Amino acid sequence: MTIATLTTVAEVQAYSAKLWAHGKRLALVPTMGFLHDGHLSLIREGAKRADVVATTIFVNPAQFGPTEDLSRYPRDLKGDLAKCESAGAAMVFTPEPREVYPPGYQTYVEVEKVSQGLCGEKRPGHFRGVATVVAKLLAMFRPHVALFGEKDYQQLQVIKALNADLNLGVEILGMPTVREADGLALSSRNTYLSADERRQALALSRGLKAAQQLAKAGERDATVLVERIRSFLRDAKLREDYVAVVNAQTLRAVPMLEPGVAARALVAAFVGNTRLIDNLSVAAG
Ligand code: PAJ
Repeated sequence: MTIATLTTVAEVQAYSAKLWAHGKRLALVPTMGFLHDGHLSLIREGAKRADVVATTIFVNPAQFGPTEDLSRYPRDLKGDLAKCESAGAAMVFTPEPREVYPPGYQTYVEVEKVSQGLCGEKRPGHFRGVATVVAKLLAMFRPHVALFGEKDYQQLQVIKALNADLNLGVEILGMPTVREADGLALSSRNTYLSADERRQALALSRGLKAAQQLAKAGERDATVLVERIRSFLRDAKLREDYVAVVNAQTLRAVPMLEPGVAARALVAAFVGNTRLIDNLSVAAG
């Protein structure tokens, strides 16, 4: 394997400085590993937009709540390195937590408005942890472009806001959600699902699709769209965490769809003990 694996911040800074000195463009794809085709689509797109693609694999403790799955988050470093390389990454950064958060660490990034509601409300502190680690990665890599998935739609908006507000000057590129043939959004957490749960999980993408079609057919009332998604969750006996139809930029709930104003339907639900999220654009037809 020829892919470079770096584990210290100093190595990353030297690697980036060399690229900048040679006038090379750098693309960054941050991940928590256990890579699937969704992650790899970001790496492949990065390879088209830059001379060098770097990936990070770091299960960031700061973004997990005390009762969440940090200790059992799936890992497969060897498999991940091979996948990164075949997708076109030249370097992977795999730091230990103490390299990212050394003793005495005390700086956290709080993105206010767009972090509120949805996952921000259901997972207190989550976006503070995401914003902190992403700000650190953008600062140490100084990439020209960084790629993130629309699968984590609120996260993407949080990252766009922090990049603009902290004047980091990176091009933040949001990429479409990669799905299984039956519509289930790819997620590292899908590995937790039993065969029955895997079938139940389809309610998220099917409910969103039904809402999207209702909107296309002319339904403007957000409560009707939300209720449609909820009916899919109920039929599959899933426990809802939230269902919402929001303005696609501000993430504030909208009562009605309006032509020319982008809106998004978002859902989070528990399939057994596994919490899954998904989202889709809903346009006034
Ligand atoms: P992780 O869940 O590993 O996801 C890494 C990147 O892959 C994110 O930008 C995510 O939106 C994207 N992604 C995940 N599933 C996808 C899919 N089905 N289609 C397209 N893109 C997909 O998100 C995180 O890690 C972390 O919060 C991180 C940003 C790395 C900060 O720790």
